[in-house]
Amino acid sequence: MVKVNDNYLKLPGSYLFSTIGKKVAAFSTEHPDKKIIRLGIGDVTQPLAPAIITALHGAVDEMADAATFHGYAPDLGYEFLRNAIAKNDYQDRGCDIAADEIFVSDGAKCDSSNIQEIFSLDNKIAVCDPVYPVYVDSNVMAGRTGTWDPKTETWSDVIYMPCTAENDFAPELPKETPDLIYLCFPNNPTGSTITKDQLQVWIDYANKVGAIIIYDAAYEAYISEENVPHSIYECEGARTCAIELRSFSKNAGFTGVRLGFTVIPKELKAGETNLHPLWARRHGTKYNGAPYIVQRAGEAVYSPEGKVQLKEQVAYYMNNAKVIYEGLKSAGYTVSGGVNAPYIWLKTPDKMTSWEFFDYLLEKANVVGTPGSGFGPSGEGYFRLTAFGSYDNTVEAIERMKAL
Ligand code: MLT
Repeated sequence: MVKVNDNYLKLPGSYLFSTIGKKVAAFSTEHPDKKIIRLGIGDVTQPLAPAIITALHGAVDEMADAATFHGYAPDLGYEFLRNAIAKNDYQDRGCDIAADEIFVSDGAKCDSSNIQEIFSLDNKIAVCDPVYPVYVDSNVMAGRTGTWDPKTETWSDVIYMPCTAENDFAPELPKETPDLIYLCFPNNPTGSTITKDQLQVWIDYANKVGAIIIYDAAYEAYISEENVPHSIYECEGARTCAIELRSFSKNAGFTGVRLGFTVIPKELKAGETNLHPLWARRHGTKYNGAPYIVQRAGEAVYSPEGKVQLKEQVAYYMNNAKVIYEGLKSAGYTVSGGVNAPYIWLKTPDKMTSWEFFDYLLEKANVVGTPGSGFGPSGEGYFRLTAFGSYDNTVEAIERMKAL
């Protein structure tokens, strides 16, 4: 008889943002008159930049003519995009990354969940706590995480690295040696960052113990401070221990367009095995490449006009971050993040749990945020707000919160 993958049955509840979506939909049905402001999921609200729209239109027109029509994309990505990425995101920053080490995909969420497939189930993962839930859930689905303890809300075979106010929301090296280490900086959900020197410690550690770091740099465009690395490859020795994930969702507003990439240096090995060909094999077998139209839009991100327009877009969202950070601080909240990241991490007032505060805020201010505990046990008592709303909605949400 056919059997399901039992690992799926181990997953407690639904995906965090689906749970929130359902709760908000139920509230909205019950209170159709209320204007709900959504600062929960980190979804962008501003239109695509003009340079990207022009590129999209141009590519669509190419598809209308047999002479310029494109069918299946090369499975690792079009050269024009891989070259633009290698030059602008890496070589211009002094990182030794070549175009053929870049694997174009339809987004960092998929890559961050799929990448574990090329590693043995025996590997032990280490994650920050709180953490973007996709890293853990995808390893649960694969059967790498052991058993779920509903009391501690942790998996028996996962190494949790608490990121709390005490350590400035930066993980410390784990006591138990992991095989795969997930790091995300600027961090989702806390909005924290680490310096280049701090990141170097992780690279030296990974090279020493033979671990691989899966580095999610989806929010690098939001870095405003000098000593914060945009890529893990800015540090020495990263080519032998790190995979980097990048997204076009947050720097260019592609959440609805879908484009991302993964970098795997040629010399990166697990034991004696090179990982680059394994990921290429996986990509070739399971994926037919991001659409031509979308990859042309991605190329426009690196055009001179695109760069100027996207800098403005990032500044727009970071102004929202400032509105949230300063508004809540002046109202007496304990807040962090929001300086190098589009997320603001706040302590819930009056010892409310994260979900109590979620309900309270939805009910009393009609504002949606994300409960910190949804990202892991160390997120309990915290709450995340995103700066990706419109300016007017952000100002109104903070005014409503101040009036509570
Ligand atoms: C988030 O809100 O954490 C992100 O938008 C989720 C994602 O990028 O998939």
